[in-house]
Amino acid sequence: MIHVVRYESPETWAEHVAARFASFLADEPAARVALPTGATPEPVYAGISEAVRAGIASFRRAHVFLLDEFGGVPPDAKGRCDVMLHRSLLDHVDLAPERYHRLDPEAEDLAAMCAAYDASMTPPLDMMVLGIGRNGHVGMNEPGTSPESATRRVELAPSTTQASVRYFGEGAALPTWGVTIGLSAILAARTIWILATGDSKADIVRDVLLEPVSTTRPASLLRGHPNCWLFLDAAAAAKLPVGVLSRG
Ligand code: PGA
Repeated sequence: MIHVVRYESPETWAEHVAARFASFLADEPAARVALPTGATPEPVYAGISEAVRAGIASFRRAHVFLLDEFGGVPPDAKGRCDVMLHRSLLDHVDLAPERYHRLDPEAEDLAAMCAAYDASMTPPLDMMVLGIGRNGHVGMNEPGTSPESATRRVELAPSTTQASVRYFGEGAALPTWGVTIGLSAILAARTIWILATGDSKADIVRDVLLEPVSTTRPASLLRGHPNCWLFLDAAAAAKLPVGVLSRG
């Protein structure tokens, strides 16, 4: 079962999710967490950065794992996940570089890099923060992905390549593949948070929660996880019946 929490506006959503994360980190300062990039988490990361500046939370003892990364595009492209996570969070908080773990699509031996990444997520992560694609992907685990999937190279769905224009910019070369933490490590994490805002996510949010669990919508596989939370603003929750909401 996924606990669904709805906030009235994108602003209250970002404020509360950031405060929740800051208090998670204050309770578990040595937590090992995977973090997503993209448009959705940016206002949350601004709030977390603010909490760190204010001394309410600290990444000093934490470990951060990048959830996924685009391949076949320059490492310094503005849409690379590593670049986005630095811009929106890592450049503003007190995480030492050696406590940051990133996926390297340029690795000579990609399979070995992925296997080492999986090994570094043993024991399972304390917290897995995810966005959700309009096709139900989590990380770059596209429709059809097995729940047993490991960290690996993946081909992107054409709609994911197209959607990445909002990260890379008009006219830039867009990625057709990437590397991602697999569903196996996602499902093994102690706590999962899924973040979704805006009306473009309302249909997939409804389908993920109410249609049968299926690999055609990878996020629906998280319904079997014992501690999974979905944080929505009103627009993303607009197609849900009231009964599916949990108390925050
Ligand atoms: P977005 O991406 O936050 O930019 O909407 C989410 C995703 O595709 O996982």
